Amino acid sequence: MSNIYTPNQVELAAKLLQSGDVVGIPTETVYGLAADISNPVAVNKIFSIKNRPSNHPLIIHIATLDQLDIYARNIPDYAYKLAQQFWPGPLTLVLEKSDLVGDWVTGGQSTVGIRMPNHPLALSLLKAVGKPLAAPSANLFGRISPTLAHHVIGEFNGAIPVLDGGACSVGIESTIIDATHPATCSILRQGSITLKQIRQLLVNVNVQDSVNKTKRVSGSLKYHYAPSKPCVKFHNPLELQRIIDIYGDSIDILAMNKIPSCRAQNFVQMPLDSANYAQKLYEQMRVADQSLSRAIAIEAPPATMDWSAVNDRIDKATAKSNEALAGPILID
Ligand code: TXA
Ligand code: MG
Repeated sequence: MSNIYTPNQVELAAKLLQSGDVVGIPTETVYGLAADISNPVAVNKIFSIKNRPSNHPLIIHIATLDQLDIYARNIPDYAYKLAQQFWPGPLTLVLEKSDLVGDWVTGGQSTVGIRMPNHPLALSLLKAVGKPLAAPSANLFGRISPTLAHHVIGEFNGAIPVLDGGACSVGIESTIIDATHPATCSILRQGSITLKQIRQLLVNVNVQDSVNKTKRVSGSLKYHYAPSKPCVKFHNPLELQRIIDIYGDSIDILAMNKIPSCRAQNFVQMPLDSANYAQKLYEQMRVADQSLSRAIAIEAPPATMDWSAVNDRIDKATAKSNEALAGPILID
């Protein structure tokens, strides 16, 4: 496809970004829809292409650690510690913004989300552009984040050029930490870097697990990440049977355990460890969303700490359908 740029076309993608265009870019978490942060017209294109409310702040992506001090200020010591430990990587720090970050990036907030992505192409692109890139996930507002270049092409009907960096190795969005307070930080969005890892690193800091409701985190909306057909979660064969009673046999089942009664062509064996599961989750949800089936049923993974980011994404993808089914499924 002509709008897909190969890894040796980084310079071309950089030129497009420098001239104010929006480009789909690979990161280790999910693909982003990127624009030069210093160009308000370019950044506004992201909001209109995604159909995203303009007061939802964007994350900015940087290539080197010294850019942290340029785009944020009043940075607590523990935030440097987090950056040194986990960057480049799937961790976003929310910090007080410097004057170099315009209101068009932050939705008018005085804070900015910053991360250094751990993807060789993203890093060389950032270096070639010479400025940070604002990039939300490259999906329409409320839909599943893309983890392959062709997902981005499909999402925007080929209208947006995409730099192809292969499959994202993490597969779910970054962990977001509010690091605006000197001695307390809180996790605003779960990701592959866990609360446990953060607490282990920051022994003298109060690390809270709570989502701060005053901050606008679109990933904290209840119905984020949803496929377009009904998508429900089940815990056991009885619950699955009730879903089959409603939608019939034509459902895609994403499960870790073989389901004895299910028809083989609709069964997707999901990885048994949380990292590989996360890497495949959105891709399999997209495949199931595009199949001829009527609905998607996802078997709930273990309810343990290791799985909490994956469970968070599955809960959001299934919240609406599970709520709609609450009558027939739960009341009988
Ligand atoms: O892994 C990721 O974080 C991906 C890749 C492309 O980097 N990006 C991503 O962006 O997931 P997005 O826009 O889909 O989600 C970023 C989240 C949003 O929920 C946004 O509200 C929140 O970060 N956010 C950004 N800036 C913020 C700020 N200043 N305060 C609070 N939340 C912020
Ligand atoms: Mg998103």
